[in-house]
Formats: sequence, structure tokens, C-alpha cells
Amino acid sequence: MNISDQEVHLWFILNEEIQEPEVLLRLGSLLNAAEATQQKRYRNPSLQHRYVVTHGVLRSLLSAYEPRTSPQDWKFLYNQYGKPYLNTEPHQVLLRFNISHTDKVNVIVFGLIDEIGVDVEHVERELNYDAMVNNLFSYQDIAELSGLEGENRKKRFFDIWTLKEAYIKACGMGLSIPLDRFYFSFSDPDRISIGFDQGCDERPEAWQFWQVQPTESHIAAVALKSHHPKQLTVRKLDANVLNSLFSSRMKMEQRAYSSGPKQSE
Ligand SMILES: CC(C)(COP(=O)(O)OP(=O)(O)OC[C@H]1O[C@@H](n2cnc3c(N)ncnc32)[C@H](O)[C@@H]1OP(=O)(O)O)[C@@H](O)C(=O)NCCC(=O)NCCS
Repeated sequence: MNISDQEVHLWFILNEEIQEPEVLLRLGSLLNAAEATQQKRYRNPSLQHRYVVTHGVLRSLLSAYEPRTSPQDWKFLYNQYGKPYLNTEPHQVLLRFNISHTDKVNVIVFGLIDEIGVDVEHVERELNYDAMVNNLFSYQDIAELSGLEGENRKKRFFDIWTLKEAYIKACGMGLSIPLDRFYFSFSDPDRISIGFDQGCDERPEAWQFWQVQPTESHIAAVALKSHHPKQLTVRKLDANVLNSLFSSRMKMEQRAYSSGPKQSE
């Protein structure tokens, strides 16, 4: 599978579609010891399931993009805020990724850019919107929401929330970036733009954002820092896609095994 430097790929996975025990066993077998420990730390079986699906699928997709590394052999590095990156040795892989989960939907974004982030949220969840807006959003965001009511207000709230999360995840610095120091403008229907408070060392034109609706009740946002326009492709990964990734990997490994060095007689 190919990805060019003009592309960004967003994969989404519905947890309920990845249920077959053999598939889950196979995904689980791809995790390293730290991931297996992390999975077991979750007491809730649905969180365990979500973890194995996301991380097993991440490994499988990485190897589909970069077949020289087997899914179980990927190694990750983390910055001081916990953002995972690929350890690019030994093949100097340029691929970058970011993941986000909800109860039902997981998303994984891939691109050839360090600053890439994604967030997905369940828009039906119970939240104290007003408290979040007042405590976390900038005055420009608050102005954007003022005058909106009911469903329109809720929709715009989740637009802003997912975009903020995608942005801080792209930067990789978690909540050390104050969420009220930047804001979004939706006035151009073809382009969501970001604005920064004075004193922020960021250029709005360097950022690109996309919004995607993987289900009726989920919204995702992707953020990416690049001066060159990119094209977002959205793909769904279901059990069929996953099985075809597994079988092409198996065929590749069989070919490598049968064409490997022959034992001398
Ligand atoms: C990581 C963070 C940025 C987002 O976490 P989250 O929304 O709870 O969770 P998501 O499902 O979107 O993302 C989690 C994944 O992001 C990745 N991640 C972890 N730290 C990260 C960081 N600093 N930057 C980017 N990605 C990170 C990991 O892969 C993690 O999944 P994993 O643990 O299974 O490997 C976290 O710092 C956070 O708590 N954010 C703020 C929450 C909030 O109050 N938001 C209000 C917005 S208005």
C-alpha cells in the first residue's frame, strides 16, 4: 500500500465489526510485551478489546505501508508528553501516525509529516458543555458558539473540541498547550482555519484541518502542519480488509521463506 507525501490517510474501525476470536487472537499476538501489559491493565473488557484492535490494526497497517517490517517487529518511541512515533530503524521509514479512540470508533491517521494528529468523539455523550466552553475555550470560540442553540450549538461545540484535540495531538504536547490560546474559524466553507493569540509562535497558514463523520454519532478531526496542500483519503477497516491484510502478509512471508537461502546438502 502506498502513501505519497501529498496524501494523508485516515482509517476508521468500528469495534463491533472486529469480533471474530481468531482475528482478535491474531491481533493480540502482534502486540509487544509493554502493549500486552497495557491491555491487561484495563479492567473493562470493552476497553481491552478496543486496545487490542487499535494497536493490532496499527501494526498491521504499518506493515502494509512498509512491508519490509513485520507487524510484530515495529518499535515505538514516545516524546516527553507520551506521543508515540515509529522508531524508524533500520529502514528509515518516514511514515507518521496518530490514533484516537472512543467506545465504538477508533481512528488512525497516517502521513509523512511529524506534526499530524487526530481526534474522534462520540457526540451523544453526556457532557456539561457550558462548563467546558467557559473553562477551556478561547473568547473567540465562545463568540463562535454564541447565538447558536440546540443541535447547532452542540455540533459546533464538537467541531471545536475535536479540532482542538487534533491540533494539540499534532503538536504532541498534550494539555501543556493552553486550549484557550487558539481558536477556529468556519467562515470559509472550503477551509477550516486556525487563529492564535498574540505571542504564540505559530503561523495559521501552516496548518490544515479536516473533519470526517465516521458514523452518525461520531465526529473526527485531523490536523497537520505543512505549507504544501495535502489530500485526505478516508478508509474504513472492517473484518474483510483486515483478513486480506493478514493473508497478503502470510503470502509474502511464505514467498520469502521459499525463496530464502537453500540449505547445502
Ligand atoms: C493524549 C491527549 C492529547 C488526548 O487524549 P484522549 O482524548 O483522552 O485520547 P485519544 O483517544 O484521542 O488519544 C489517545 C492516543 O493518543 C496518543 N497519544 C498519547 N499522548 C499523546 C500526545 N502527547 N500527543 C499526541 N498523541 C498522543 C496515544 O497513541 C493514545 O492512545 P494509546 O494510549 O492507546 O496509545 C491527552 O493529553 C489529553 O488528555 N487531552 C485532553 C483532554 C481534554 O480535556 N480535552 C478537552 C478539549 S476541549
